Amino acid sequence: MDSFVFNKFAGAFLGTALVVFGLGELKNIIYHAETPEKPGFIIEVAEAATGEAAGGGETAKESLGTLLAKADPAKGQAQAKACLACHVFEKGGANKTGPDLWDVVDRPIASHEGFAYSDDMKSHSGDKWTFENLNTFITNPKGFVPKTKMTFGGIKRDQARADLLAYLRTLSDSPKPLPAP
Ligand code: HEC
Repeated sequence: MDSFVFNKFAGAFLGTALVVFGLGELKNIIYHAETPEKPGFIIEVAEAATGEAAGGGETAKESLGTLLAKADPAKGQAQAKACLACHVFEKGGANKTGPDLWDVVDRPIASHEGFAYSDDMKSHSGDKWTFENLNTFITNPKGFVPKTKMTFGGIKRDQARADLLAYLRTLSDSPKPLPAP
């Protein structure tokens, strides 16, 4: 009887010891699995950054701030010829098919006096034309405002859009600060 009870305790003890050792081992496995993961990730990011700095990076991965930092407003002015069919860029300029775009950066959306915006554009009126919003809209106007009256296909090349935004930014008495790269 006694040895039977002893065996039960011994068994319980061994079982517990196994679980404890098992957990310790499991922790090691998890810990070891984690260790190589982190440096690997950091290296990947560092490589992407180097690629960008070398100018050989994939443009799709560059932030708008980075693209704007190297944007050329003169090239943007050439891009903007596509807008002149419908927009005026002068201070106090007239609304044509589209509203005057003087000082459009950071202007509240759908706020230009005397222009009859689409309902869909007006639904964004709580927001502003930040560089980000302009960038999204000019990539694909209907992607940002599905029922917009602006019948323009969009500019797909990231750097071309950044050049255009850099030009739009100059159309102001006090150009807005560029977003951080
Ligand atoms: C075919 C005519 C047309 C062309 C080309 C065009 N737009 Fe527009 N744009 C419009 C119209 C119309 C609206 C008003 C849209 C609405 O209310 O839905 C508008 C609105 C805008 C707005 C919103 C302004 C505000 O006050 O909220 C911006 C910004 C804008 N256009 C930028 C551009 C830029 C930049 C280009 C050139 C790359 C361009 N547009 C080319 C017709 C045009």
